Amino acid sequence: MLILENQSLKHLNTFGLEAKAKYYIEIESEKELIELFVTPKSILDNALILGGGSNILFTKNYDGLVIRYIAKGIKVILEDDESVLIKAEAGEVWDDLVSYCVAKKYYGIENLSLIPGTVGAAPIQNIGAYGVELKDCFELLEGYFIDSGSKQTFMRSDCNFGYRDSIFKRELKNKFVITSIVLRLYKKQIFNLSYSALKEELKNYNTNELTIELVRETIKRIRKNKLPDPVQLGNSGSFFKNPEIDEEKFLLIHEKNPDLVFYKTSSGTYKIPAGWLIEKCGFKGRRIGNVGTFSKQALVIVNYGNATGDEIKNYAEQIRHEVNTKFSILLDYEVNII
Ligand code: FAD
Ligand code: EPU
Repeated sequence: MLILENQSLKHLNTFGLEAKAKYYIEIESEKELIELFVTPKSILDNALILGGGSNILFTKNYDGLVIRYIAKGIKVILEDDESVLIKAEAGEVWDDLVSYCVAKKYYGIENLSLIPGTVGAAPIQNIGAYGVELKDCFELLEGYFIDSGSKQTFMRSDCNFGYRDSIFKRELKNKFVITSIVLRLYKKQIFNLSYSALKEELKNYNTNELTIELVRETIKRIRKNKLPDPVQLGNSGSFFKNPEIDEEKFLLIHEKNPDLVFYKTSSGTYKIPAGWLIEKCGFKGRRIGNVGTFSKQALVIVNYGNATGDEIKNYAEQIRHEVNTKFSILLDYEVNII
C-alpha cells in the first residue's frame, strides 16, 4: 500500500481534465483499506473517493487524499429456483457485471447496459436508464466509515434511494467507502420495456422472440446513437437532472408545447426532460470555445479537447441561467463538482 503524491487524474475522469491529487492511493482489498485507516486523521479527513470518474467535474486540483477502491470479483452467494443473489466488489466495471449477468441469463439489470463507471459508484446516484434503477434489484451494500474505520451494511431501506440520489450523495458523501454490493436478479424471463424509446426499437419483435441478449444489444445501440463516447469526446453523461415541477408550472409550459414528453409522478408533480428545456433555449449542438452541448442530446456537455473545468462549469451555469430565465426552472446538477 503506497500513498503517491501529486498524482495526475487526467486519465481518471471522463471529461479528460487535468487535475492533480495531493495524495493518491489505490486500495486492492478490504485488508488494505483497514490498514489505510491508521493514516493521520488530518489526511483522512479530506478524502475524495473516486471510481471511474464518469460523474465528476474537476475545476481544481484536489488538495487532499484521493482513494480508489479497485478490488474486483463477482460471485453468486445464494440461489433458489427463482432468483440469485449476486455479490460484486466495488472495483468491478459496472458494464462487466451487466455482461456477466446477461451471459448467465440473470434478469434485472440488462436495461442498465453500458452505463460507464464502477460497481461501487452505482448506488451513489442510484444509477438508472430505460425504466430501471439500481434500487429495483438492490439488496444491500457493505463498506467502511473513513473516520472510525468501522464496517457497516446498508440494506435498501437504509440508502434513501431516490431519482439520481441516495444517502451516499448527501450526508455520507466521501465519508463511507463502498466495498461491495449485493443484487437480487431473476432466473425467469422478465423484461421492463416501459421506456418508449426501447419499446419503439423492439416493436417488430414478438414477445417469444425477445431474449436478454437482444434487450442488451438494443439498449447498447440506442445509447451509442444518442450519447458521445468519452474516449472520443470528453463528457460525463447528463450534466443536469430532469426537473420535477408542480402542476401549475407544467400546464403553463404544456399549453404552449403540446409535444412535450412528461411523466407524472406518484406525488402529483411532473418530471420533464431537461434536454428539451436546454434545446428550447438554443443550446443543442452549440459550441463556445472548447466547450459545447452534444448535437444529439442537449443534456450532455462535451469537452472538445482543451477545456478547463472552470470553462465547463461556466458553460453549465450559462445553460442554467437561460433555462431559468425562459421557464423559471432552476436545473440541478447531476455531476459531482469538485
Ligand atoms: P465517479 O465519477 O468516480 O464518482 C461518482 C461519485 O461516486 C463521486 O461522488 C464519488 O465520490 C462516489 N464514489 C465512487 N466510488 C465510490 C465508492 N466505492 N464508495 C463511495 N463513494 C464512491 N448515469 C446514470 O445513472 N444513467 C445513465 O444512463 C448514465 N449514462 C452515462 C453516459 C455517459 C457517456 C457517461 C460519461 C456517464 C453516464 N452516467 C449515467 C453517469 C455515470 O456513469 C454514473 O454516475 C456512474 O455510476 C459513475 O461511476 P464512476 O465509477 O465513474 O463514479
Ligand atoms: N429531449 C429533447 N432534446 C434533447 C434531449 C432530450 O427534446 O436534446 C427530450 C425528447 O423528447 C426525448 C426525452 O427528452 O424523448 C427523453 O430523452 P432521453 O430518452 O434521451 O432521456 P433523458 O431524459 O434525456 C435520461 C437520463 C439518462 C438516461 C436516459 C435513458 C437523466 C438526467 N438522464 O435522459 O441518464 O440514459 O434517460 O433512461 O435522468 C445520465 O444520468 O448521465 C444519463 C445519461
